[in-house]
Amino acid sequence: MAEHLEIANGSKADKYAALLPQIKSIVEDEHDLIACMANVASMLHETFGFWWTGFYRVIDLQGAGHTQELVLGPFQGPLACTRIRKGRGVCGTAWAEDQTMVVPDVNQFPGHIACSSASKSEIVVPLHNAEGHVTAVLDIDSDQFATFDETDKLWLEKIAELL
Ligand code: SME
Repeated sequence: MAEHLEIANGSKADKYAALLPQIKSIVEDEHDLIACMANVASMLHETFGFWWTGFYRVIDLQGAGHTQELVLGPFQGPLACTRIRKGRGVCGTAWAEDQTMVVPDVNQFPGHIACSSASKSEIVVPLHNAEGHVTAVLDIDSDQFATFDETDKLWLEKIAELL
């Protein structure tokens, strides 16, 4: 109990350090990616009290002018937009550029997709398959400005590598 309280009151890095082995053990025992994404979204959301925590998956399309889109996956938080094209918004940019995007003020990000006016800052981390292709993104939104920094980037990239 004392240990649990210490973690709950600890620094952001302490919380991520405590969460990582828990996520690892859950992911190791389950091969279904959607189930793992659902639990990871829940664990991050509950631990940090983010505004919105979830995944968008890269899905192949048929009969459209483009071949793939991000489609909403497991998440915690309010209703969100369901499809995002490559290069659009923060998620589509993280996918197109294959890099983590840390956005301290979403109003300053050209083309930001405002699913909710309450969202003020966000971080988006790409997930990869064994060939190194982006298969999904982890998208976390905060209702405060400048919530995310290099610490979040470091630990969330470690979490993304487990999926
Ligand atoms: N803000 C994202 C869209 C998804 S919602 O925030 C859940 C973006 O611009 O990519």
